[in-house]
Amino acid sequence: MSEILDAPATDTAMVRVSALTKSYGGGASWLSRLGKGGPSTLKALDGVDLDLRPGEILALVGESGSGKSTLAKILVGSTTPTSGDVSYRGASAPSHRDRETSRRVQMVFQDPYSSLNPRLTVGRMLAELLLLHRIVPRREVRAESIRLLNLVGLEEEVLGAYPSQFSGGQRQRLAIARAIAVRPDVLIADEPVSALDVSVQATILELFTSLRAELGLSILFIAHNLAVVQHLSDRVAVMYLGRIVEVADTREIFARPRHPYTRALIDSIPRMREASVNDAFELDGEPPSPYHVPAGCRFHPRCALAGDACRATDPPLLQVGPAHLSACLKADELAAIPLPDPAQELP
Ligand SMILES: Nc1ncnc2c1ncn2[C@@H]1O[C@H](COP(=O)(O)OP(=O)(O)OP(=O)(O)O)[C@@H](O)[C@H]1O
Ligand code: SF4
Ligand SMILES: [Mg+2]
Repeated sequence: MSEILDAPATDTAMVRVSALTKSYGGGASWLSRLGKGGPSTLKALDGVDLDLRPGEILALVGESGSGKSTLAKILVGSTTPTSGDVSYRGASAPSHRDRETSRRVQMVFQDPYSSLNPRLTVGRMLAELLLLHRIVPRREVRAESIRLLNLVGLEEEVLGAYPSQFSGGQRQRLAIARAIAVRPDVLIADEPVSALDVSVQATILELFTSLRAELGLSILFIAHNLAVVQHLSDRVAVMYLGRIVEVADTREIFARPRHPYTRALIDSIPRMREASVNDAFELDGEPPSPYHVPAGCRFHPRCALAGDACRATDPPLLQVGPAHLSACLKADELAAIPLPDPAQELP
C-alpha cells in the first residue's frame, strides 16, 4: 500500500478522509415497493481516502456528479458522512462543528453570491466576521479589512460598496476575502473559476497561488477538467463515480497517468487532442448513474483497456510509483502507451 495511506496516525496531514461514504435516499421508492425499479440509494461517495497536506494545493478533478461537492460539503461540515472518518491535524472532526472547528476550514463557491449578503456593504460584511470570530479588536477592524482587501487585489475604496456593484471576478475576490478573514488553515474552493470569463480565470488562479504563499493555506481546489489546474496544483486527485481513482504530483500525473480515466481527461484537453495519435481513450457519453454503479471496476463500461478481470474485480487504490496511486488493474500496461507530445512540455 501507499506511503500516503499507510502514514501513521500521528502524521501531519492537514485533513485526512478515510473510507468516507455518503449515501442519499434509502427509503423504498414507489417503484421498488411495487417490485419494480432499481435501488433507491445513491452512493455519492463510495469509500474515499485522501490527504490534504499542509501548505499544498491539491486539485480534485472529475466529471459532473462524481461526488466532488459532496466531499467538499463534508469537509466544511455542512453535511455529515454516512460512514468513514474526517480528521484535522490528526484529530477526528466532530460531526457537529463548534465555531472554532468551523473557522479552520472555509469554502469558496462557484457562485460567489451564495456567500455574500447582498444587503451588507463590504466593510460591514468583513467587520461582522472579524468581530464575531474575535480576529482583531474593534479598533483594528478597518485596518484589518483593508489588509484583507489588498490581499485579494481590491482597494480600500470598495469598503462602502455592495456585492451587486462588482464584476464576477471582483465578486469572487470578495468571497475569497470573506473566507480568509477568519484565518482558516484550509480553503476548499469548489469550481471557483468555472463561471468566470477565461481572461478573468487566470487572475483568480494566480490569487490562489499567492494566498497559499502568503498565508500558508492548504487548498483543495475542485475543477471539472485537468487543464484548469495544470499550472496551479501541487498534486491532483482524480474522482470517478464516488471514488478517488488516481492521485499523484501534478507533473507526474500529466507525464505518466496510470488510470485510463485520467488519460482520457488529459487527452480531452484541446491542445492534447490536436497532438493525440489515436482517440482510444476518448470518453463516450455520460458516466453511469450512481444508483447503478457497475460491478467490478466502476470505469469498465467506458474503458479502452477493459478485460474480463475488470468486470469481476473492484480495484483498490494502490501505489504504482513513488507517491503515485492508481485504482486500475492495468496501470502498468497503460504506462507503456505513449502520451501525446504536449504532455512532455510542462515547464
Ligand atoms: N442532496 C442530495 N440528494 C440526493 N442526491 C444528491 C444530493 N446532493 C448530491 N446528490 C447526488 O450525488 C452525486 C454527486 O453529486 P456532487 O454534487 O457531489 O457531484 P459533483 O462532482 O460536485 O458534480 P458537479 O461537477 O456537477 O458539481 C450526484 O449524482 C448528485 O445528483
Ligand atoms: S481496472 Fe480495467 S476497466 Fe478499470 S480502469 Fe483499469 S483497465 Fe480499465
Ligand atoms: Mg459540484
